[in-house]
Amino acid sequence: MSAKIIDGPVTLITGGGTGIGAATTRLLLDRGHRVAITGRRKERLEEFAAEVGAGDALLTVPGDATDFESVQAAVQATVAAFGRLTGVVANAGLSTHDDLADGDPDQWRDMLLTNVLGPAVLVKAALPALRETQGRIVLVGSTAGVKNTPGNFYSVTKWAVSALAENARVLVTGSGVGVTLVAPGRVETPFWDSREGGAPGGPIMTPDNVAASIEFALSQPAGIEINSVVIRPTGQVF
Ligand SMILES: NC(=O)c1ccc[n+]([C@@H]2O[C@H](COP(=O)([O-])OP(=O)(O)OC[C@H]3O[C@@H](n4cnc5c(N)ncnc54)[C@H](OP(=O)(O)O)[C@@H]3O)[C@@H](O)[C@H]2O)c1
Repeated sequence: MSAKIIDGPVTLITGGGTGIGAATTRLLLDRGHRVAITGRRKERLEEFAAEVGAGDALLTVPGDATDFESVQAAVQATVAAFGRLTGVVANAGLSTHDDLADGDPDQWRDMLLTNVLGPAVLVKAALPALRETQGRIVLVGSTAGVKNTPGNFYSVTKWAVSALAENARVLVTGSGVGVTLVAPGRVETPFWDSREGGAPGGPIMTPDNVAASIEFALSQPAGIEINSVVIRPTGQVF
């Protein structure tokens, strides 16, 4: 193994087997990262890894992003495989695509835990390793966490992610760790499969568009951090 590879970036992505996480994984591998990805569906992670064909540069770690011990184990597995950790992407998330009047609170619980507790436990689990490398934390929020989607609890969870990004930034910036909120508008991914009729009509991005912003945040030079990226397809109003 060359010195370049030993020193290269190592990034852990939650929900890395589909959509934005999968596009980010491919891009980071292209840019010389070694990448670890999590997700609840072991078979999906294995299928994706086989598609990518990155060999030892891609580690799959099945697990639940809402469970601290599982996330901590994913961090430990990443460091054990690649020697260090230079970035994490809190990407796992979902929407119930409903509203406060008609939605199912039991489904909101799962959404709240995944979208809000998940990124928080990733920050906690990854911080010791990231402090050693002055690494990067990227939180995938949403434009729904920048502007309110009326009556929509998903929007509430993503406002919490926006708050978590600034909250975490203030906590860690003195240690040299950087924090970035990447807040995308609509993206064509399996996220919309659970919505009747799929994604709403109108302009929509590809996962690669968002992956480029995540990679941009992760690749800033030492001493510089991009704190917030809001990215929409031109023509998306909210
Ligand atoms: N698509 C959009 O229009 C859009 C817009 C703004 C923001 N976002 C955000 O972008 C992020 C990625 O979503 P996406 O659009 O790429 O959709 P996606 O393809 O459905 O990706 C979500 C990923 O998260 C994983 N996941 C869900 N719950 C998990 C859990 N408890 N533990 C571990 N992994 C979990 C899923 O894998 P498993 O099911 O195997 O666990 C899946 O791989 C989400 O945070 C979403 O809110 C999406």
